[in-house]
Amino acid sequence: QQIQWFPGHMAKTIREIGEQMKLVDFSLEIVDARAPQTTQNPQIMEMIAVKPVFLVLNKIDLADPRQVTKFINKNKDKFSGILTTDAKMGVLSKDFLRQLKNNSFFADLSKNNTAANLKALVVGTPNVGKSTFINHLAGKNIARTANKPGVTHFLYWIRTRYNLVFLDTPGLLWPKFEDQEIATKIGILGGIKDNLLASDDLALWLISFLQKNYPTAIATRYKISHFPLDNPIAALMSITSQLGLRQDFESASQRLINDFRSGKFGLISLDFYGDDYLDN
Ligand code: G4P
Repeated sequence: QQIQWFPGHMAKTIREIGEQMKLVDFSLEIVDARAPQTTQNPQIMEMIAVKPVFLVLNKIDLADPRQVTKFINKNKDKFSGILTTDAKMGVLSKDFLRQLKNNSFFADLSKNNTAANLKALVVGTPNVGKSTFINHLAGKNIARTANKPGVTHFLYWIRTRYNLVFLDTPGLLWPKFEDQEIATKIGILGGIKDNLLASDDLALWLISFLQKNYPTAIATRYKISHFPLDNPIAALMSITSQLGLRQDFESASQRLINDFRSGKFGLISLDFYGDDYLDN
C-alpha cells in the first residue's frame, strides 16, 4: 500500500528553506536520538549543507546510550557538531548552549559577531521534539506544540533568551522512503499520522525488533513468563491476552506502540548498530 505522507505544501516549504539559507549562520537538524539516522531528512540535508549543520539528538533520555555512542562515532565527521538534548528537561538550555559554545565553529563565529544575534535554521522530521526544544530556549510556548505531521506550513523567526534567533520550519518528511523499514520506524516514533499506518504492522515489526535486540524488554514490561521469542504474531496474541484485551489486537498494538514511545520498555534505540562493545 502506497502511503501519502508528503502533502504538496511540503515541496513548497523545502524550496522556501533553500531561499532562506543565505539569511542564517548555521542549521540545527533535530533528530530522534533513538533513530538518528532514520529521522534525518536526506532532501533537507542537500539544501542546508551550504552552511554548517549541527545534528541535535533529542529525546536522549529514551535512547540506548551504547547505540548513541556508536552513531556519534560513525557520523561525527559528517557534521560541524553532534549535540544531545532532552528537550523535556528544564536543564536543556544551559547544557545545549555549553555544547554549542564548546564547538570551535561557534566560538569563532561569536567572536566575529558579538553584537549581533546568531541565526539558525531549525529543521526536523515530525515529532522529534522540535517545538519542545525551541520553546525551552525561547523561554515561552511560542513554537507550535501541535506541530503534528504536516500541520504547520510556514517558516517563523523566533527570538530565544540567548544570542540566538531561530528560523523554525514545519515538521518535514520527504517524498519517497528508500525502504519500508524507514516508514515503519518513523511511524513507530510518531512522525507519520497514526491513521495512515496500520498499527498492527508497526506493532509486529516492533515485536520482532525488540525480540531480536532487546530480548527481555517485552516479557518484563507485560510480565509474561513464557513468551514466544521467534513468532511475532503469537507474541502479539500473548500480549493482547495479558492486557485483558481478548481478541482486540488493534488496541494491544496501539498500547505497545504508545508504551514504546513513552519509554516504558527502557532505553531502546531503533537504529541499532549491533550489540558488541566495540565501536565499529
Ligand atoms: P515536534 O515539534 O518535533 O513535532 O515535536 P514536539 O515538540 O511536539 O514533541 C513531540 C513529543 O515528544 C511531545 O510529547 C513532547 O513532550 C515529547 N518530547 C520532546 N522532546 C523530548 C525529549 O527530549 N524527551 C522526551 N522523553 N520527550 C520529548 P507528547 O506526548 O506529544 O506531548 P506531551 O504529553 O509532552 O504534552
